[in-house]
Amino acid sequence: MSIRKTSKTLLKRAGLIPIAVGTLTVGGSILALYPQASSAQSNNTSHLSNNASNYGYTGSYIYGSKTGGGSSNSAAITNLTLSASSIPLGKSLFLENCSSCHGTQAQGSSRAPNLQGLGAATVDFWVSTGRMPLADPTIQAVQKPSRFSRSQTLAIDAYVASLSSGGPLIPNVNLSLASESAGATLFSTNCAACHTITGAGDALASGVYAPSLSVATPTQIAEAIRTGPGNMPRFGPLTLSNQQVADLAKYVGYLQHPNDRGGIALGHVGPVTEGFVGILVGLGSIMLAGFWIGGKNK
Ligand code: HEC
Ligand code: HEC
Repeated sequence: MSIRKTSKTLLKRAGLIPIAVGTLTVGGSILALYPQASSAQSNNTSHLSNNASNYGYTGSYIYGSKTGGGSSNSAAITNLTLSASSIPLGKSLFLENCSSCHGTQAQGSSRAPNLQGLGAATVDFWVSTGRMPLADPTIQAVQKPSRFSRSQTLAIDAYVASLSSGGPLIPNVNLSLASESAGATLFSTNCAACHTITGAGDALASGVYAPSLSVATPTQIAEAIRTGPGNMPRFGPLTLSNQQVADLAKYVGYLQHPNDRGGIALGHVGPVTEGFVGILVGLGSIMLAGFWIGGKNK
């Protein structure tokens, strides 16, 4: 395929030839990548079904509706099934570490809220991020190393969830089915106002702050989105689909390690610079495609 002569002249006049050639290469490789991308997708899907059965995914109750609206189990988010055999351990950990404030049945007290019906994901978020147990109930609970191992945390989650039904289950995010670029857009519109565009966090109002997102795991990110801890809004499935939650988790992971990815380093401004370069390359491709299509039609 050759660029029409007039287009070439036009481009040359505008001094755009080097950029255009560069763009042609980029555009070409993007086109060439499509078939690969879709076969990678189906590999991922079969990988996911393995994962899903490992976690005992049933596809039933999630936030009051079915997963992600998909009919297959190629979902970017599945749910962890808690094991009933861990409930006795969870109960003793809860009685030792939580019941003085939340009550023995997690029913709440004058010191702390009722936890019944909040769901395993809420308990998992507060315990795994080290916010609970709380030392000083008068200040905003902070992110700190958790006091419990992962299996102890899941046991506490299982105990509280066994006391009543309802609330979100613990999300397991399959990052290989998530899109970082879709996540970048979603992050700038839904999260950056509070957590800043780099995820560094910021003060909100009188002593309340949106924390840095530098240590949150994909599960904790999905839990925060679905449960809305403290002063953070809760984003339900009608606002953000499971796929979008997974995209966000992937993008926050990128913000945590912006330089670990090979490729061209675009400076530390990260998403902003990349978006800008993206626009330049994108516009270049569109222009070129326009010239090419224009040429073919004549
Ligand atoms: C010293 C008292 C205290 C202890 C001990 C404590 N909590 Fe809390 N907990 C609180 C208070 C106060 C809040 C409300 C904090 C807030 O909203 O920032 C809270 C909030 C929570 C929430 C969020 C509730 C909601 O409405 O979103 C969960 C879940 C939770 N605690 C679980 C636990 C678990 C599990 C333990 C034991 C590992 C524990 N807490 C130990 C005082 C305590
Ligand atoms: C209105 C402000 C606000 C918005 C919008 C917001 N958050 Fe938050 N976020 C908070 C606050 C406040 C907390 C701390 C809650 C607490 O500890 O009581 C928080 C906590 C978190 C945490 C826990 C971090 C950790 O390691 O402890 C994650 C993850 C998170 N937010 C992700 C997000 C994502 C992703 C979005 C966009 C979908 C978002 N937030 C939108 C205010 C916000």
